[in-house]
Amino acid sequence: MAWYSWFSTIYDQALEDLYAPHRERAFSELNAGHRKVLLLPCGTGQDITPLLPRLAPDADILCMDLDPGMLAKARARGSSGCRFVQAPASELCSHVEAESLDLVVFSLGLSVVPEHESVLREALSRLRPGGQCLIFDCWAERRNLNSWPVEWMAQADLSRTPFRILEAECSDYAFHPLKDAQPLRFGGQLYVATGTRV
Ligand SMILES: C[S@@+](CC[C@H](N)C(=O)[O-])C[C@H]1O[C@@H](n2cnc3c(N)ncnc32)[C@H](O)[C@@H]1O
Repeated sequence: MAWYSWFSTIYDQALEDLYAPHRERAFSELNAGHRKVLLLPCGTGQDITPLLPRLAPDADILCMDLDPGMLAKARARGSSGCRFVQAPASELCSHVEAESLDLVVFSLGLSVVPEHESVLREALSRLRPGGQCLIFDCWAERRNLNSWPVEWMAQADLSRTPFRILEAECSDYAFHPLKDAQPLRFGGQLYVATGTRV
């Protein structure tokens, strides 16, 4: 069984309450009313409920993830506007047309997917000019005592800095450390970074 298929059996119980307030805070950085949305990787769908009130009522949300176990949980909580695709993030261009999206959300994903820099660049190319990208993730500029367990459990690399790509390639770049999130609990600093495609 793949790691995340096993993890999917306890993921929501273990992590949903811990991350929920910080997810909400991160999504408060979104512009209102986006319609065509990519959620990558969607995991068990913990983003869906807090995202919906910030999107257009007829929003079309493409939820992509590599793992069937995580996707099965996401499907169970998806709304009518959600579509689900099981695919590696590296194949996103096969599933999304260029300049077609209003919003891309990467939640706790770019620290996990192997080809994170090319995936982010490809996602930006799928945004329409004026479209928004949001990264909600964890950054260990210096690893703390909990970084290794978190990296092991999530198969993540918390030293990654994908927000630098947003800074270089987008307008309206903003980076906010989520100050209520204790770095020792998360293995690093939770943050939200946003940018607008030029
Ligand atoms: C830490 S979870 C985050 C899930 C969700 N975004 C959240 O915030 O709860 C990381 C997710 O990345 C997915 N994943 C790992 N490697 C991937 C890849 N190469 N392509 C797509 N998804 C991948 C896993 O299946 C898992 O659902």
